[in-house]
Amino acid sequence: MTRRDPHSYADDTQAQTDSFALTARVDFATQTIAAEVTLVFHAPASGRLDLDTRDLTIESVHDALGRALAFAVHPPEPFLGARLAIELAGPTPSVRIRYRTSPEASALQWLEPAQTLGGARPFLFSQCQAIHARSLVPLQDTPRLRVRYTAELAFPRELVAVMAAADRGRRDDGALAVHRFEMPQPIPPYLFAFAIGDLASRDLSPRCRVWAEPGLVDAAAYEFAGVEAMIGAAESLFGPYDWERFDILTMPPSFPYGGMENPRLTFLTPTVITGDRSLVSVVAHELAHSWTGNLVTNANAEHFWLNEGFTMYAERRITEALEGADMAALSAALGRRELDESFERFADRPAMTKLRTHHEGIDPDECYSLVPYEKGYMFLCAIEAAVGREAFSRWLRDYLATFRFGAITTEDFEAHLEAALPGALAAANARAWLDGEGLPATAATPRSARLDAIEALGGAVPSPAVTAAWSATEWALYLESVPRPAPEATCRALDAEFHLTASTNHDILVPWLVLALKSGYLAVTPRVEQVLAAVGRMKYLRPLYTALAAEPRTRELAATVFAQHRDAYHPIARQMVETVLRPK
Ligand code: BES
Ligand code: ZN
Repeated sequence: MTRRDPHSYADDTQAQTDSFALTARVDFATQTIAAEVTLVFHAPASGRLDLDTRDLTIESVHDALGRALAFAVHPPEPFLGARLAIELAGPTPSVRIRYRTSPEASALQWLEPAQTLGGARPFLFSQCQAIHARSLVPLQDTPRLRVRYTAELAFPRELVAVMAAADRGRRDDGALAVHRFEMPQPIPPYLFAFAIGDLASRDLSPRCRVWAEPGLVDAAAYEFAGVEAMIGAAESLFGPYDWERFDILTMPPSFPYGGMENPRLTFLTPTVITGDRSLVSVVAHELAHSWTGNLVTNANAEHFWLNEGFTMYAERRITEALEGADMAALSAALGRRELDESFERFADRPAMTKLRTHHEGIDPDECYSLVPYEKGYMFLCAIEAAVGREAFSRWLRDYLATFRFGAITTEDFEAHLEAALPGALAAANARAWLDGEGLPATAATPRSARLDAIEALGGAVPSPAVTAAWSATEWALYLESVPRPAPEATCRALDAEFHLTASTNHDILVPWLVLALKSGYLAVTPRVEQVLAAVGRMKYLRPLYTALAAEPRTRELAATVFAQHRDAYHPIARQMVETVLRPK
């Protein structure tokens, strides 16, 4: 057996899926999906076929001739799920599997009407990265194997379905709507995605449309109006946009991530809708994945930095092109701070601070951190500094063109860079970056005049004249620079002057609440509770729960608040908070 992905049962010596056709009937009452999928192979195959599944009930398996095939669902392993072993009786070009998903499917969150903005209709969405596609479809759930697909979803006709795929039309049939989609470009399975709910849309440009609940769609259209300019900037940096459309779906507040780069339809947390376009770098990030991640994909989660480190680099190049080098430098400076927090979190597991990691026996959700993002970014900057921006940009375009629609490892990256720019790896100290823990001694510290101005404050309360021109990034940098515990007088002065507790920009609000909690300024706890009740984005949940749990006076509150909202959180966020609150 030849398994090359520690998170998949897919076997290189067996049939490989080229495309699949899915028909699925979505039942909100039982929170299950009854489905049939036909996996079509690159070439007719026989013998054993191992697929990934998780919490699926497999009802039957047939081959292309309609013969029932013997199959076995093996006992589930933690986080990997259960191997579905199928015996292909004779050469067959495809297999057809009839199955049902479980209400516990880890890729799905089923929201009650009360958990939506409108409050009248339920909502369902998928989140497959890193290894949750297998709880929706039995397949070879490894990014090494790209697939095209068609999907036909049946669901209550008063709802709207969207998918990270091309729209092939909807027809209503009695109480049900049947909506067809097709993904013509081959994708890694973790990019399979859809959502069903009360959705409206606005066109932003011929290739960009924003979707949101009707009550939010105009605000979303305003917030993301600059997206076409972003695509233009990205295309001039990285080459043509290969996915035809770039639509955006504004998610319900429980969405656990800032964004998810589902191709043709990026999913975004509603917390980026601030009314002042101050957090649109998340859009730049997900757009950048259209090249780094979706076109050139990590072969498995051990090489995740190839997805996220490259995307941070690409995101900041887009920011630099549209908003100037200063703004990109501020974003990098904030990333540098957050990287230190991740290093602290992994103090007892330093192997997780390497870029090239080993994931045998490791749950990718559990070890998710900003290390592959920010350390990966810094490494690419180190290479850029060694060879110069022009040579680096040229190499990057060539790298993207070479591995387009492929899946690669860190070793593939090294070989490509070494061939194109001999000596660049050594000059950038690549070994230390890739295989060393923490940061190499040679790591450069990002600098900018605006950052210096913040640091010069030394945590003192700034004057409103100074902060008037601050971006959200500058606020976050300032708040994180205030030594903690800060004196109560400082907390009170900050809040009185800048009304931070009332801020609706979570990138400012949450760093403020964390500073306040860590300073024992407990006047903010009702607001903390409010945020934890309203928002499921892990970037905010993690530091807030961590700060509550660290302080004896609020430790109980952390447990109480979690017990109250646990069921409303996404399964992945729930697992993360449980880890944070688990006694060490
Ligand atoms: N692909 C990630 C989200 C993700 C990573 C989901 C791993 C599941 C497993 C996405 O592109 C991302 O990085 N989101 C960030 C955005 C930020 C860096 C601008 C987030 O969610 O915070
Ligand atoms: Zn990303």
